[in-house]
Amino acid sequence: MDPINRDRLLRELTDFLRIPSVSTNASHNADCRAAAEWVAGELRRLGCREVEFLASGTHPVVWGVGPEVPGAPTLLIYGHYDVQPPEPLDEWTTPAFEPTVRDGKLFARGAADDKGQVFCLLKAIEAQSGGPPVNFRFLIEGEEEYGSRVLFELLRREPERTRADAVLIADMAYIAPRWPAVYTTLRGLCYAEITVRTAKSDLHSGEFGGAAPNAHEELARLLGRLKTPDGKVHVPGLYASVKRPSKVELATWKRLPFREGEFLKHRVQAKALTGLKSYSVLERLWALPTFEIHGITGGFTGDGAKTVIPAEATAKVSLRLVPDQKLKAVEHQLAAAVRRFAPKHVQASVKFLHGADPATVKVTHPAFKLLDQAFREVVGRGMAPARAGGSIPAVPALGKGGAPVILTGIGLPDDRLHAPNEKLDLKQLWDGIRVFGRFYELLGGMRAG
Ligand code: BES
Ligand code: MN
Ligand code: MN
Repeated sequence: MDPINRDRLLRELTDFLRIPSVSTNASHNADCRAAAEWVAGELRRLGCREVEFLASGTHPVVWGVGPEVPGAPTLLIYGHYDVQPPEPLDEWTTPAFEPTVRDGKLFARGAADDKGQVFCLLKAIEAQSGGPPVNFRFLIEGEEEYGSRVLFELLRREPERTRADAVLIADMAYIAPRWPAVYTTLRGLCYAEITVRTAKSDLHSGEFGGAAPNAHEELARLLGRLKTPDGKVHVPGLYASVKRPSKVELATWKRLPFREGEFLKHRVQAKALTGLKSYSVLERLWALPTFEIHGITGGFTGDGAKTVIPAEATAKVSLRLVPDQKLKAVEHQLAAAVRRFAPKHVQASVKFLHGADPATVKVTHPAFKLLDQAFREVVGRGMAPARAGGSIPAVPALGKGGAPVILTGIGLPDDRLHAPNEKLDLKQLWDGIRVFGRFYELLGGMRAG
C-alpha cells in the first residue's frame, strides 16, 4: 500500500477512534450512535445494497449486505464498534480518545479492540478494485463490551441473518509477533454484583463500633470465601463439567512461543503469578474457570476521613467459564454459594448484569485453509491453533446456523486491551489489510455452499 493511501487510512481510522463509544455508560449513548453511523457510512461506501440499524432502541446493530455476486460464497463479518471505559484517565500518556501515533503504534481506546480490526476487515474489501468475488454480510454491533444482549435477542428472532458459508471475526491477537493465530475456544463469562446489607443505615463508628456489623467487613469475608488462597474458585459444583484439554492439545501448547517467565515480567509486570500451581499458566488462562473482583463500592471513599460503619457494600465480580460449563448453571451455583457463605445476620444478594456461554469452534472447514494460506503469503507463517481467555458473547449464536466461525485477529499480545494506553501496531494493520484482502480473493474462488 502506498504512503498516500496509508495517510488517508490513518486519518479515517482516527476519526472512528475519536468517537467515545463506551457502551456500558448511558451518558455515551449518542457517541455509540455516532460510531454506528460511521460504520454505516463505510458500508455504504463499499456499495452495500442494504445498510440498516437493527434493534436501534439501544446501541444499534449495524447490518449490511454487500453487492450481489451470483454463485459466490457468502461471508458474514462480525465485529463491534463499542469500547470499554477509558478509566483511569491519568494513566494514559495521550488521551484515550485523541488517537496518537508514537513509534509506529496508534494509541487510543478501541485501537485494537475492536475498531481498528473492524476497520482492517473493511479496508481489505475496499483495497481490491471492483471488490472481491464474495457476497458480504455485515453485523457490527455496539454492545459487545456489555454482553451483547440486544444481538442475542435479534439473532433469536432472526437466525437467518447468520446464514453464510463462513463467519469472520477479527477481535483477537497474534500469539506473538509474526505468529498469527486461530482460536478454537473462547471462555464464557458470568458478571454479577454481590451486595451485602448489615443494618438499616450507616452508623457512627464510635457509638456503635465493637458491637454493630460492618457491611464492608462482611463483604470482604464473603469474597474471601469464594476463592481459596491457592487460586481455586470455591463455588460448589463449578468444576464438575470442566474438561481437561487432551494430551495432544496440551502438547501443542508447549510448542507455542509462550514463556511463563516472560509473561510475568513483560506482560503481567507483577511480582508473581497466581492461580492453581499444578496447572500450566496457559491452562489457567485458557482452560480453567476464574473468579475476579472488579471493584468494591459503598461506605466512605471520598477525600478526607469519615468515621462511619457502612450498612451496605457491593462488589462487581465475574467468573470466566470454560467449554462445557453453562452460564445458567454457573449463575445458580454462584447465587447458592453466596447464600451459603453469608452469615445469618447479613442480607446478601446477587444481581446478574450480563454473561456469555463459552464457545468451541472446529477449525477443519476449508475456509480456515484459505486464511492460513493468506497469512503464509503475507506474514510468512500460518495460523497457530490456540485458545482464548477472553469472551465474545455472540459467537455461539453466530455459529448456530452451521457456518464455521473463524476467530482470529491482527492484534499483538501487548496491546493492553481494556487498560490504559491501548494500542495497535500500524504494521499489523497494513499487513492485516493485505492478509484479509488475499483471503477474500481466495474465498471467492470457493463454490458457495
Ligand atoms: N476482543 C475481546 C475478547 C478477547 C480478548 C478475546 C482477548 C480473546 C482475547 C472482547 O471485546 C471482550 O473484551 N469481550 C468481553 C466480553 C464481556 C464484556 C461480555 C470480555 O471478554 O471481557
Ligand atoms: Mn473485542
Ligand atoms: Mn473488549
